[in-house]
Amino acid sequence: MYALAEPFVTDPAQFDGPVLVTGAGGCLGAWTLAILQASGVPTVAFDLRDDRYRPAMVMGEEAAANLIWETDDITDGAGFRGLVERHGVRAIIHYAGLQVPFCAANPALGARVNVEGTINVLEAARASGIKRTVYASSVAAHGMPPGGRWLPTLYGAYKVANEQTASVYWQDWQVPSVGLRPNVVYGVARDQGVSAKFTLAIQAAVLGQPYEITFSGPLSWLHAGEAAAAFIAAVSRDGDGGHVFDLNGTCDTVENGLKILMMVAPEARITVSGTPFPFPPDMDDGPVRAHLDYPSVAMADGIRSTHAAFVALHEAGRLPALN
Ligand SMILES: NC(=O)c1ccc[n+]([C@@H]2O[C@H](COP(=O)([O-])OP(=O)(O)OC[C@H]3O[C@@H](n4cnc5c(N)ncnc54)[C@H](O)[C@@H]3O)[C@@H](O)[C@H]2O)c1
Repeated sequence: MYALAEPFVTDPAQFDGPVLVTGAGGCLGAWTLAILQASGVPTVAFDLRDDRYRPAMVMGEEAAANLIWETDDITDGAGFRGLVERHGVRAIIHYAGLQVPFCAANPALGARVNVEGTINVLEAARASGIKRTVYASSVAAHGMPPGGRWLPTLYGAYKVANEQTASVYWQDWQVPSVGLRPNVVYGVARDQGVSAKFTLAIQAAVLGQPYEITFSGPLSWLHAGEAAAAFIAAVSRDGDGGHVFDLNGTCDTVENGLKILMMVAPEARITVSGTPFPFPPDMDDGPVRAHLDYPSVAMADGIRSTHAAFVALHEAGRLPALN
C-alpha cells in the first residue's frame, strides 16, 4: 500500500499532533501525506477540491479514501484559522498554490492564492502558537529581480514576497518558518506545470504514446519523495527563525535522463527539443542538508522507480491518459 512512501518514513515520536498539509491534492501534497501516513503521523489534508487521484496514485485508493480531508479556499483566512484550531494542528506544510502558467494567465488570482494564502498560513500559525511551519517557495525565486540570468515570472515574484513576509513574521512576532525552494520535481503524480514534462514522458512511455520534452540540457532532478521528505523534516522540530533554503536534488541532463528511461523502456518514443530550462540546474544542497536530515534519491533510481510505479498503475488500469 505504502510501497512508494516506504523509503522516506520518519519517526512519529517527533510529532506532537496532527500535521496539516495544504495543496493536498497536488503532487507534493500527495507524497507528503503518503509518507506521513506510512510513518503513523496523524494528518489533515486541505485543498480547494476533494480530488484524491494524486494521493491515490502514491498511497493507494483505500488509504487516500481514508484521509481526513478539509475542502476550502486558502484565501479564506478566517476559515483556515478555524480549521487549524478545530483539528488541534501542531504543524503546517503549505503547498497550496498556482504554478507559473496559471499565475501568468490570472495574475490577481495568482497573488491572492500564492501570496495572501501564505499570509493566511502564517497568521494561523501566529494565532495558534504553531512553531512548525514550512511553505513551498520555488527555484523560480532566483529569477527575481528581473535583469539577472534566470527567467523572471510573476510566480517567482510571489514566491519572493512569501519569503520576505515569512522573515518579517519571525522578526516581528517570532512565528518561525522554513521556506524551501524546490527545483524541478519529478515522480509519480507530477503531471502539471511546465517542468512536469520528463515525468509525463515516462508516463507516455508506459502508455505507448509518443512524447516530446520541450527542454534539454542540464536540469535539477529532485524526486518528489525526496522533496516531500525534506518538507516533513522541516516540521519535525520547532522552528528557530525565518529560514529559506534551496532544495535541488542532483544536476544532470535531460538527455542522460532519457538514456536511463530507454534502458527500462526501449520501445519508448520520446524526443528532446528546445533550450535548457530557464532556472539554475546545479545549485548546492549543502545549506539545506546542514539544517535538515532527509533521504536522497539518485536520478537513475528515481527514473526507474517512477517507471515501475507507472507500469504497476497501468496494469491495475489506474494510469491516467495523457491530455
Ligand atoms: N512541482 C515542482 O516542481 C515545484 C517546484 C518548485 C516549487 N513548487 C511549489 O510547491 C508547491 C506544490 O507543488 P505541486 O507540484 O504539488 O503543485 P500542484 O499544482 O500539483 O498542487 C497544488 C495544489 O494546490 C491546490 N490549490 C490551488 N489553489 C488553491 C486554493 N485557493 N486553496 C486551496 N488549495 C489550492 C490545488 O488544487 C492543487 O491540488 C506549490 O506551491 C509549487 O509552487 C513545486
